[in-house]
Amino acid sequence: MTAVAEQMDAFTFSEENRAQAEAVIQRYPPGRQASAVMPLLDLAQRQNDGWLPRAAMHHIAEMLEMPRIRVYEVATFYTMYNLAPVGKYRVQVCTTTPCWLRGSDDVVAACKAKLGIGFGETTADGLFTLQEVECLGACVNAPMIQVNDEYYEDLDGPRTEAVLDALAKGETPAPGPQNSRHTSEPEGGPTTLEAFRGDD
Ligand code: FES
Repeated sequence: MTAVAEQMDAFTFSEENRAQAEAVIQRYPPGRQASAVMPLLDLAQRQNDGWLPRAAMHHIAEMLEMPRIRVYEVATFYTMYNLAPVGKYRVQVCTTTPCWLRGSDDVVAACKAKLGIGFGETTADGLFTLQEVECLGACVNAPMIQVNDEYYEDLDGPRTEAVLDALAKGETPAPGPQNSRHTSEPEGGPTTLEAFRGDD
């Protein structure tokens, strides 16, 4: 089902987040506090169960003394911000060219089949939201997905299903490569220094 954004009348940062927001604003020179808009939007989103109501954007606009439209522009441009409620697990599938060449179609198919939803939708139990995104900067471990703050890499259909199954059971699968790789070394082991092996 597609999430419906029920807006709230007012939003204010919690005491702790307010202090954090003030600390972020202090990083920028006087008159340049608008530069803090992205971290403040992220902070507000984390406080509000993973999505940004309009009231939060208005609150941030007031804090940073910038027009609301400038905050809307940022919040609507980047896929990291959700303008409607999301599930407990936000599954972002990268389908940009490097991931696509490495099999992101299989990852997408596995997500849709396992979760029974399409892009932009949330499962009826509120557990998963599925989203299609552009490059997340982990092309060296393509194809990959991001679930909340974690990356799951070197995926194929079955590995994707395994990650989703574990999350559905309340487990926390280890992030990173889901094949035999440790990080992003060549599959089958390092090769760069092979020619020098035995020279010493
Ligand atoms: S193309 Fe998918 S992480 Fe870069």
